[in-house]
Amino acid sequence: MEPHKIETEQALEILINQTIKHNDNYQKARFKVSEENLNKEMFNKFIIGYGTGILQNQFGNGIFVIDEMNRNVIDQLYFYITSNELKFKGDIKKGILLCGKYGTGKSVLMKSYRYIVNWFYRSSFWDGTKPEATKPTFPGPISMWKSTELLKKILKDGGELDSIISGQNPILIDDLGLEPVSANIFGTPILPIVDLLLHRYDHGHLTFATSNFNKTDLGERYGCMIKDRLDSMFNFMVLYGESRRK
Ligand SMILES: Nc1ncnc2c1ncn2[C@@H]1O[C@H](COP(=O)(O)OP(=O)(O)O)[C@@H](O)[C@H]1O
Ligand SMILES: [Mg+2]
Repeated sequence: MEPHKIETEQALEILINQTIKHNDNYQKARFKVSEENLNKEMFNKFIIGYGTGILQNQFGNGIFVIDEMNRNVIDQLYFYITSNELKFKGDIKKGILLCGKYGTGKSVLMKSYRYIVNWFYRSSFWDGTKPEATKPTFPGPISMWKSTELLKKILKDGGELDSIISGQNPILIDDLGLEPVSANIFGTPILPIVDLLLHRYDHGHLTFATSNFNKTDLGERYGCMIKDRLDSMFNFMVLYGESRRK
């Protein structure tokens, strides 16, 4: 990561720390992500705060907005992080695959979400306790990979899946389906990302993704090996609307 990005991330963290400290439930927030210690208003502030930080970092300007295009998805992400099985329209034990057209804000939103999850995860370790409520949903911090970078990494390791990408900690694959589906290793054709997804599914490891492709497109792209499993692996969510890119 480039140095200036770390600075922004740290600055945001300090800001959020201060916000949380002013919250009566601060102590509880260090243990559990529940509606009690992370209310919806605060969650939205986190999404906007981190989201804006990401936009500033990437483009030097911009303010993250919550509007009718992303509100539904953000609500669902909130029910997911607080493990609200009644209100979450899906299965909390599965990962999330956020689809939508190019430019609808998938990457920025999921990056921002990842910062929140990881912040709670880390803060629960600062005082040496286990992240109880986050445990079934988030067994560890989420690492994020561009699908093309992930493919490069696997190919560099000779097709091997290392523990960072195949282990129990959740991963977020940005732009799933944009990478070439098959590759050759020493003349042998392999399907690196399909293999990774199947491995993670078989081991019950959570995977998150963004994609310009919908479920049908991805099924066709990756083939019958994975088509049926996509539904078992992911809650599919859609960011509607047109591109926010200017
Ligand atoms: N919630 C938002 N509020 C304001 N601008 C946004 C928001 N989400 C995305 N954008 C703008 O749209 C651009 C595309 O977002 P991005 O997340 O990269 O889209 P996608 O991953 O869906 O292609 C961003 O660079 C930013 O300028
Ligand atoms: Mg994107």
